[in-house]
Amino acid sequence: MVKLDVVRSANSALVQSQPLVAVFFGGTGGIGSYTLRALATAEAQNGGKGVRAYVVGRKAESAERILSECRDICPEGQFKFVQAGDLSLIQVVDQVCAEILELEEKEGQDARIDYLMLSQGGSIFLPRKETKEGIDVTMSLMYYSRMRIIMRLLPLLLKSNLPPRVVSVYAAGMEAKLFPEDLSLRDLKHFSYSQARSHMVYMHTLFMEALAEQNASKVGLVHIFPGLVLGPAFSSPELPAWFRFMWRFVFVPLFGRFVTVPTEESGARMLSLASPRYAPQAATDGDIKKSEELATGTNGTPGSGVYALDSQCESSIKTKAYEKFNKDEMRKKVYDHTISAFEVAAQGGVFTE
Ligand SMILES: NC(=O)c1ccc[n+]([C@@H]2O[C@H](COP(=O)([O-])OP(=O)(O)OC[C@H]3O[C@@H](n4cnc5c(N)ncnc54)[C@H](OP(=O)(O)O)[C@@H]3O)[C@@H](O)[C@H]2O)c1
Repeated sequence: MVKLDVVRSANSALVQSQPLVAVFFGGTGGIGSYTLRALATAEAQNGGKGVRAYVVGRKAESAERILSECRDICPEGQFKFVQAGDLSLIQVVDQVCAEILELEEKEGQDARIDYLMLSQGGSIFLPRKETKEGIDVTMSLMYYSRMRIIMRLLPLLLKSNLPPRVVSVYAAGMEAKLFPEDLSLRDLKHFSYSQARSHMVYMHTLFMEALAEQNASKVGLVHIFPGLVLGPAFSSPELPAWFRFMWRFVFVPLFGRFVTVPTEESGARMLSLASPRYAPQAATDGDIKKSEELATGTNGTPGSGVYALDSQCESSIKTKAYEKFNKDEMRKKVYDHTISAFEVAAQGGVFTE
């Protein structure tokens, strides 16, 4: 377990290192907003060098609430809202990313992203439902849209002076069954929420590894299970009624305070993933001296650049789950499948693979 004082000193060192540019997809609520608040607080409390943060979401009212809170905490910071449509659509993702690229280009030499958080889409237990682009809504919000964002914003991440970081908040470590011939889970006999979650976790690891191998070796890529963090996601009307009932009247009163991660701690932990402990592969190559200070990556090596973490920010990769198949072949399969979904959606088609 990474102790909280280590988390806090990592955040203090981060904000003192240089001015930061951060982007929060899903920052209008829940864990994204707690992380944004942690950044504003770390900046204000530690004499940070400055921050420019973009918050992406659908609801302007929620955005205004969190942005004004951050401006109160850290008046020198720049906090901007980028309004998005439905991010389960790849074409919408592309429009939003184009807007962020344009906004940052106006900063001239300073244009970059140092920290990118992906936490859009809180609803779980939904039945399979396809977007007009042919991808299941939940799988798109929590996997496809996120990988598309990384690819689209990679030029800005590569301009960072820090080893930049991408943090995708979902369900790392929850690999179970995989249907390699039905990655999209189109066969309804294969589909359940937990099965979809398993696919999205495998696909996170394999796609991120493929990106790191190709052109993102200078970016630390993190997928984390945040633990149970109470927030709007658990009262969403999209959730099945039985879940909302059990959650509100049974789970939270009986077990809530024993098993949940406080929102302030959650935000601080997510921000601390920008620390050198989760460095990109290119920043650690051959550095055996530092291996004790580095988290273990998804390939079992300290500092490999792609990390699957538990709520305590420690590696949770289920190595044995990946031994059931040829990992190199599966990585290529997942990569090709995902790129093909992007190409079809970008051309206005319906993905059917
Ligand atoms: N909270 C937990 O205990 C927990 C535990 C395990 C895993 N997770 C995972 O962690 C991630 C973040 O969870 P959270 O609790 O922070 O979720 P949340 O509170 O529901 O926040 C989700 C964010 O995503 C945005 N969003 C949702 N649907 C969207 C859509 N179709 N298009 C654009 N934006 C959309 C929302 O913005 P707008 O409302 O402005 O659209 C909101 O800012 C989720 O993937 C969740 O499954 C959470």
